[in-house]
Order: sequence, then structure tokens, then C-alpha cells
Amino acid sequence: MIRKLSLVCVLAGFTTGAIAAPLGLPPVPIPADNPQSAEKISLGDRLFNDTRFSADGKVSCATCHDPDKAFTDNLQVSKGFRGQTGTRNAPTVINSAYMKTTFWDGREPDLEGQSKQPPINPVEGGLPDHAPILAVIRKDPGYVQSFQAVFSVPASGITMDHVAKAIASFERTIVAGDSPFDRYYYGGDTTALSEAELRGLQVFVGQGRCVSCHRIEQTQALFTDNRFHNIGVGFGKIRGKEQETAAQFLQSKREGANVDIAVLTRENVSELGRFAVTDNVTEVGAFKTPTLRNIDKTAPYMHDGSLGTLEDVVDFYNNGGRVKDSDPVSGFLSGGIRPLDLTAEQKSDLVAFMQALTSPGLDQLARTGESNHE
Ligand code: HEC
Ligand code: HEC
Repeated sequence: MIRKLSLVCVLAGFTTGAIAAPLGLPPVPIPADNPQSAEKISLGDRLFNDTRFSADGKVSCATCHDPDKAFTDNLQVSKGFRGQTGTRNAPTVINSAYMKTTFWDGREPDLEGQSKQPPINPVEGGLPDHAPILAVIRKDPGYVQSFQAVFSVPASGITMDHVAKAIASFERTIVAGDSPFDRYYYGGDTTALSEAELRGLQVFVGQGRCVSCHRIEQTQALFTDNRFHNIGVGFGKIRGKEQETAAQFLQSKREGANVDIAVLTRENVSELGRFAVTDNVTEVGAFKTPTLRNIDKTAPYMHDGSLGTLEDVVDFYNNGGRVKDSDPVSGFLSGGIRPLDLTAEQKSDLVAFMQALTSPGLDQLARTGESNHE
């Protein structure tokens, strides 16, 4: 339903600037150099679902960002070609159109850049480089025709930039708002939230201080500040070895190591978080604040998928960024992460509130009928 709304806008022709979005979301930003069109979106949909762009012919974007699982895989860490596991939990692609940076450490600035990495990561698509992708596309008459129609290029002129643009255009249509929270907060429907959910909202903006990072604005809420914080997740894995791990990583980066590969294949490097991108020591263990929209559907949680349920997440925050009271506190912890002293009722209210951030019709998202979901 939501998706059709944006399609109606784009069917009128090429669309740049911004596209109207569901209740609770700002207009979808569209980059000037990659305008939306119905044909480009449908091409991106096909590319997103094409398993041929992987070493074993079995892994597509949708393998790990499955429309039936709110565009995640619901695994602790993702499984790539031949079942290889990486170090990180797959975030949802829903509302990725709004991201100011992509990946948990923000190492790619936009969706176009992001989409080129997975096929050539050894624990994801497993291809040595992009050449096999272009070879498949140039030999597929359906693709050749679509790239010609969308980008006015002959088969020989198709590049990864075209592929990335089409995928990003498709992703920009996967937008979902209009949750019970939105209908209450922005739609003026005072009955949209239950008593428990309302009390949970109070904890979220009050004693829990969740809103300081998971932002709610006056006219919309993305539930992120687009910034990076160390909240203590995964700290145990590099405890006492932070400096050493950081120094080793910097050395391999100077020697030309690929950051995308390093963070997804080496657990200790993954834990460096934002530091791997900025080399800034104060950002060791800092990760991007994720959205909380549709959070009930995207378990498990955190960059390493280490927390199984929303109850676990609330306990973790209540313990000041620790799984157990007895765990040591991370030396690099963000200000604002400290024990919250919530009662059992406040904790369950907070969970109820987060469950009220689920959009209707999620299973209908990205169902154009043209794609070959496998
Ligand atoms: C093997 C599983 C896997 C495959 C295949 C895969 N992804 Fe991902 N995706 C992930 C994981 C894991 C992350 C987080 C990695 C990180 O942050 O270091 C991610 C991150 C992302 C993000 C950033 C989300 C955010 O919150 O910053 C987007 C967007 C995305 N993937 C889209 C795609 C697209 C498009 C494709 C296909 C070209 C794709 N993915 C293929 C597992 C996968
Ligand atoms: C200092 C900023 C900050 C505050 C305050 C904060 N969060 Fe977070 N939140 C984050 C960051 C950063 C992550 C990702 C951390 C990681 O994976 O290492 C996160 C992750 C989460 C996740 C998991 C999301 C996912 O997709 O895996 C949930 C749920 C969550 N926070 C809920 C809350 C709640 C509830 C509160 C209040 C009790 C809260 N947060 C307070 C920054 C914050």
C-alpha cells in the first residue's frame, strides 16, 4: 500500500528531490543524480533478488534482507555463500532511504556505495570482483533491455554504477511508517496506543532516556540520531586488548587491507566499530544508532546479534550497558549509558512501546509481482 503510494508519484515520470512518505516519516530524499522511475525500481527489485551474483549462485541481497522477515534474516550473524558466517547482524533495509551513512560503522555514505560491497565480500557473495556480475547481466536479454530503457546504455556500457543506482532506487521504495505510535503521536488518534504502550512511551522519553539517541521529532521520528555510540555491546570480546587490536588494524589498513572485508571476517576488528572508519580512538566500540521502527520483527538485536529479545535489550540498558550486573563496564562507554533503575512494570511497558512501532502491511512491502523471489 505504502509502496504503491510512491509508485504513483514516480509513474508520472522521473522524480528527484523528495517523495511523500507515510505518517511519521519525513519525505524520502532522492539524490539528484539518481532520480526514481518505475522502470528503474523494478530493475532494482530484480537485481536485489538475483542469486546469480554470488560464488555459489545461491545468495542474493534478499537472502539476508528477506521481505518475509522485515528485510532481515533473523539470524544472530548473517550467512553468506556456502553458509559462511560473518561477524555482524543484518540490519533491516526498511527505511534505509533515510540513512545518512550505511553499515553499523557507517563505512559507506550512501545506498549506492553500500550495494557494491556484499557480492565481493568473502563471507557474503564471495565473488573475487564485480566482473562476473556484469557478465551475467550483459548476457541476459531481459536485463540488457531494462538497462537500455533505464540508463540508455548498450550491453557493453553497463557498469556497476548502473547496477548500484537501480538497487538503491528499489531500496528507496521500501518505506514504512503509520505504526500505532505514529497514529497516536502524529495522527491525533488518542486510542491508537494501549495504557501499557503509553506508559512505555513515558519511560522511553523520560527515565529511560532512550529518546536522546533514538530520536522522536516534532513532525516525524526516525528513532536515530545518525550518530555513533559505544553502549557496551560486545565489549567483552576485546576487553583488555582494545589498544592492541586498534594498533594492529591501523597497521593492516596502512598496508592496504580492505575495511569491508576486515570488519566482517575478523571478530576483534568488528568490535572496533566506528574506529575502523575514522581511526579516532574515542570511537572504539561505537556503532550507529539503529532505527527502532519494526524492531519487534527484526530480532536478534545489536551489531553482533548478541541480544535475543526486546526484554534482553531493556535489561541490558537497565544494567548500564551490561548483560549482567556483575559484568565490567566498558572503558569507552558513551555518556548517558548508566543503570536506569526501572521497575518490572516499566521494563515491560518499554517493551510494549517498542512493539507499537510496527507498521501495518509489512508483508506487502516490495511485492510488485514482477520479482522472482526465491
Ligand atoms: C550474507 C548476508 C548479506 C547479503 C548477501 C547482503 N547483506 Fe546487506 N547487510 C548484511 C549485514 C550483516 C549487514 C551489516 C554489516 C555491517 O554493518 O558491517 C548489512 C548491511 C546492509 C545495509 C546497511 C543497513 C544499515 O542499517 O546501515 C544495507 C542498505 C544493505 N545491507 C543492503 C544490501 C544489498 C542491497 C545487498 C545486495 C547487493 C545486500 N545487502 C546483501 C548482510 C547481507
Ligand atoms: C547513547 C545513545 C543511546 C541510548 C541512550 C539508547 N540507545 Fe539503543 N542503541 C544505541 C546504539 C548505538 C545501538 C547499537 C549498539 C550496538 O549494536 O553496538 C542501539 C541499539 C538498540 C536496539 C537494538 C536495535 C537493533 O536493530 O538491533 C534497541 C532495541 C534499542 N537500542 C533500544 C533502546 C532503548 C529501549 C533505550 C532506552 C532504555 C535505548 N535504546 C537507549 C544508542 C542508544
